[in-house]
Amino acid sequence: SLTPTRDDKFSFGLWTVGYNGSDPFGGPTRPKLDVVDAVTNLAELGAYGLTFHDDDLFDFGSTDAARQSQIDRLKQALADTGLVVPMVTTNLFSAPVFKDGGFTSNDRAVRRFALRKVLRNIDLAAELGAKTFVMWGGREGAEYDAAKDIRSALERYREAVNLLGDYVTDKGYDIRFAIEPKPNEPRGDILLPTVGHAMAFIETLERPEMVGVNPEVGHEQMAGLNFAAGIAQALYQGKLFHIDLNGQRGIKYDQDLVFGHGDLQNAFALVDLLENGGPSGGQAYTGPRHFDYKPSRTEDVAGVWTSAAANMRTYLLLKQRAAAFRADPEVQAALAASKVPDLSNNTLASGESYDDLLADRGSYEDFDTDAYFGGKGFGFVHLQQLALEHLLGAR
Ligand code: GCO
Ligand code: MN
Ligand code: MN
Ligand code: MN
Repeated sequence: SLTPTRDDKFSFGLWTVGYNGSDPFGGPTRPKLDVVDAVTNLAELGAYGLTFHDDDLFDFGSTDAARQSQIDRLKQALADTGLVVPMVTTNLFSAPVFKDGGFTSNDRAVRRFALRKVLRNIDLAAELGAKTFVMWGGREGAEYDAAKDIRSALERYREAVNLLGDYVTDKGYDIRFAIEPKPNEPRGDILLPTVGHAMAFIETLERPEMVGVNPEVGHEQMAGLNFAAGIAQALYQGKLFHIDLNGQRGIKYDQDLVFGHGDLQNAFALVDLLENGGPSGGQAYTGPRHFDYKPSRTEDVAGVWTSAAANMRTYLLLKQRAAAFRADPEVQAALAASKVPDLSNNTLASGESYDDLLADRGSYEDFDTDAYFGGKGFGFVHLQQLALEHLLGAR
């Protein structure tokens, strides 16, 4: 069905539907969105979750009373609607104090303040039942090579994440961390710029099992990378703890468009992977389908909710098309002709050693590379055209 339900696990950041249109060239085009309205509208549209940065819910520097009153208003709205908070994150990028970063600012006092801000927000995440704590280090980076000792910065990042892991473990919280990569913007270059960098960094941590990634469609595409392929590797390594769905058109500034409003064929491949496990079958990801997009500055308040609904409808449409693609006998035949299933077979026979391989004349000395294929192609273009036709609803 194309009507979103709670079982679809669609969630939205409060900063997404709450985006008021401010950009570096102009001020807001929409009024501030109240958290209670956000929860009410998202619940009506069929979403199941709301996520937020501390500063989305209560202003940076709020008094304890003002902070608590916003938390209480959120809790009441959740109770009234049944919406949940699956993920919480901390804003370490907006306040001027974070202009050179939080965990990796050159200034030690800022680093200590950043850790305190995150620890406080982890307590709130636990209180609200969030299972994932996202860390997007938008200001962790530099514009100038001489300005940042990258190896020390990574060491400070490591120190921070190790400390947070100790805290969550000692408190007994049921929370895991997800690092969100981004290549640039707002910094000229950001640390841990891609999914691959982040996954390599995670292996250096004291508790790597507690830390995964939160890849965002547009962020990998800003670096010219294939998002669905990056997600496949994150799944392969057991690191896809969360995901930020949106749209991006090529290598340029972070567009945060509606999911599917960018590289639609890659979005199709992504949904097919998440929902059908690709050619190997079986749902590969069961976590929240989280939208991190911005309703374009051109839209009015009604347009905000139209765009929120568009994310979910596009996801469900792609899910429907991907199911049809997998069920089509012609697709199955094309996959077999392309030898896609053959890639899941081990290259060596079970128990076969390199000595056995070296002794196998058929694999080398007697392997006639020209005669074997006889000029035969793999048929990948036909396969992709079948995918495209399913995507277009032409089959
Ligand atoms: C971006 C990022 C951010 C983060 C969010 C979570 O568009 O640059 O997606 O929106 O996801 O701030 O911390
Ligand atoms: Mn983004
Ligand atoms: Mn994001
Ligand atoms: Mn964003």
